[in-house]
Amino acid sequence: MLTKDLTNKIRPTVYLDNASTSWPKPQRVIDEMVRFMAEDGGSPGRSGYRQAVAAERIVRDVRLKLARLINADDPKRIIHCLNGTDALNMALKGSVRDGDHVICNQLDHNSVSRPLEAMAARKFITLTRVPVAGDGCIDPDSVRKAITPATRLVTTVHASNVTGIIQPLAELGRIAQEHDLLFLVDAAQTAGVVDIDIKAMHIDMLAFPCHKSLLGPSGTGALYVGKPAEVCPWREGGTGADSIYPTQPEEFPTRLEAGSPNTAGLAGLNAALDGLTPKQTLEHERMLLDRIIRGVEGYDKVRIIGDTPLSRRVGLLSLVIDGLAPVDAAAILDESFGIAVRAGLHCAPYAHQALGTFPDGTIRISLGWSTTEAEIDQLIAALREIVG
Ligand SMILES: Cc1ncc(COP(=O)(O)O)c(C=O)c1O
Repeated sequence: MLTKDLTNKIRPTVYLDNASTSWPKPQRVIDEMVRFMAEDGGSPGRSGYRQAVAAERIVRDVRLKLARLINADDPKRIIHCLNGTDALNMALKGSVRDGDHVICNQLDHNSVSRPLEAMAARKFITLTRVPVAGDGCIDPDSVRKAITPATRLVTTVHASNVTGIIQPLAELGRIAQEHDLLFLVDAAQTAGVVDIDIKAMHIDMLAFPCHKSLLGPSGTGALYVGKPAEVCPWREGGTGADSIYPTQPEEFPTRLEAGSPNTAGLAGLNAALDGLTPKQTLEHERMLLDRIIRGVEGYDKVRIIGDTPLSRRVGLLSLVIDGLAPVDAAAILDESFGIAVRAGLHCAPYAHQALGTFPDGTIRISLGWSTTEAEIDQLIAALREIVG
């Protein structure tokens, strides 16, 4: 059994790409995955023997914990997915009907915009992409104005994965509710650090990876599907029970969950959820963001994207360095300073068009629960040396 703190021993770099996936994972996650594979490891929901029951308990526990986290009453409406992309595809392709109009926006990740653009290209739906306003937010009024009699769905990201700016979810949700529209939220950058209340925010579908701030392993994600959203199955097949039906069962969660789940991943996620400290983590990350912002103040060649108070940000920011392509800056940070950041468009090309950083994109620095002040000081020193 792996009991020593392995991640600390092998930590090779200053890892500042937590918006892609969080690293390192807490030791309890690694230990529980190893324990699960060594001791349990059965196929959940398929049989009554010990390992199968143990695996089923984990699958159910995670459902319950995720439901609590977002204030959902019915854990069966939490669908285990592979990642955020999988959850978003399931929501979009399962809920949109021929002839619908959908309102999306410029902050969309490709996991939202590509399925929607593909549906629009084959004339299955019409699409309005609402612009991002000067404060980095989607103006609820522009969403209201885009509504037509054919509109079925409004979708938005909770916090931009390019700027880190948190969007006015409750207001957007209220507009969707007033017009009887479905409201889909991509919570990839907020689940695990920012409070999400599906009732107060009028959210019908919430998609989120569980391998970022929820600290689960890769291959985990979830979709919450509320009552008004009649999401049709996107993948069909074995569910363990109800094998007599010729088609996918109607009931949740089996309606949307076919095939053997990622049980080892869910075991790790189960352990991750037990020790989450969203408020402290967000506070910690905002303190580090402030340190970066102050650390590059006065260095005119470094421009931070989005002049937004920390209270409206999650723990990531984008910056550009005058005269140096983001991809080159990231390579220098990696090779000369051992600092891992992400460069480019971050799968959100429309956001860069709005921010004036298209097509080269930005350098994105994203913090995590274990990022230290010393690591941030290393980053600041490296940036100063690069521009100096
Ligand atoms: C805003 C946003 N949406 C969706 C995704 C896709 O999530 P995943 O990588 O888990 O598929 C990401 C991932 O970076 C993201 O930042």
